[in-house]
Amino acid sequence: MTAPDPKRLLVATTNAGKLREIRAILADLPFTIATLADYKALPEPEETGKTFAANARIKALAYAGATGELTVAEDSGLEIDALDGEPGVRSARFNGESYAEKFATIAHMLEERGTESSTARFVCALVLTQPDGVVWETTGVVEGRLQLPARGQGGFGYDPIFYYPEYGRTLADVTDAEKAAVSHRGQAFRRLRDYLAS
Ligand code: IMP
Repeated sequence: MTAPDPKRLLVATTNAGKLREIRAILADLPFTIATLADYKALPEPEETGKTFAANARIKALAYAGATGELTVAEDSGLEIDALDGEPGVRSARFNGESYAEKFATIAHMLEERGTESSTARFVCALVLTQPDGVVWETTGVVEGRLQLPARGQGGFGYDPIFYYPEYGRTLADVTDAEKAAVSHRGQAFRRLRDYLAS
């Protein structure tokens, strides 16, 4: 007798930092994890949404439609209160090619507003879809504040300037497991893991 095919889940992200975190959380699920690297030349949907949830839905529906797979997509980013929520949904495309440049832009914008720091949060909207529609969604949020200059070599993206008070360090200055235990993405994907396991 042959064992039934394990269930498949397409994790629709091209961001290596995100993928590493997500794989670690979903590792024990009885699902084969597929990624966009398993598909050649899928068109990237335009992220035209005004919210993280809207963009996550756009991505999840586009990739589920193109592949026929059960698909999870997420949209995430950093909201800085003193900058009215910027960079928000534009976090990946925000001013500057490198993160060093993005951090310099943020420091400059804060200075223009007469401050050096601000409360901030990372948000992760997660959407699970079948080709014919949304199955389930959730949002994870982690509150912290900006720390400039940047500090720490771990994580990715804005982690070196995101100070997490309970750890007394930035999220680039903690282990992957410590970040996942509190992060926006950790929260959202643990909920997905529990949903898929139930
Ligand atoms: P997206 O691919 O449009 O969702 O872009 C999300 C962007 O938000 C990333 O490219 C990072 O710049 C930022 N971001 C999201 N999650 C994190 C995180 O956990 N740490 C640091 N930056 C993050």
